[in-house]
Amino acid sequence: MAPGTELADLALEAAGCTRCALAGGRTQVVFGVGDPEADLMFVGEAPGRDEDLQGQPFVGRSGKLLDRLLIEELGVDRSRCYIANVVKCRPPDNRDPKADEIAACRPYLAEQLRLIHPKVVVTLGNFATKLLLGTELGITKVRGKAYPQDGWQLVPTYHPAAALRSGGVVLAEMRADLIRAKQLVGWS
Ligand code: URA
Repeated sequence: MAPGTELADLALEAAGCTRCALAGGRTQVVFGVGDPEADLMFVGEAPGRDEDLQGQPFVGRSGKLLDRLLIEELGVDRSRCYIANVVKCRPPDNRDPKADEIAACRPYLAEQLRLIHPKVVVTLGNFATKLLLGTELGITKVRGKAYPQDGWQLVPTYHPAAALRSGGVVLAEMRADLIRAKQLVGWS
């Protein structure tokens, strides 16, 4: 089977998803984008307005920062990675995703991880980190190291929106986390 076929099939299935109430308010499902065989995967929270309109994750202000950090710290553009979110549909008014929405969407993320089988997953912010690390601890408590999983490494870092809001130390720590991810992937 050609690389990416199963992922493309899953994206087609997700495009018609009605597993939670977010289906009623979305323009389109934002499934994920990038190399289906990527060694490095990013997982964010949920699509915002720009993502909902364009159908791709991280295309607004947060995404522009992520793209810039990828170039500056890893020397790659997003096409070398895979980028997805915890929930694939935009929550109204960009509110936080609810527990039942996360639970309904979780099988898609689990399948993305299984099919892409990246070496390293960078979780961006609390929602992705809590879900994939299975912790209740906040991002500031858990970031700063890698967590070995079953065949891959989890590197938690801030959501780019937090770096945009706070700059300074948060941005510097995010850069350090990305360098950690780069080393674990073997790109340095
Ligand atoms: N924030 C996210 O968590 N994901 C996106 O795709 C865009 C903004």
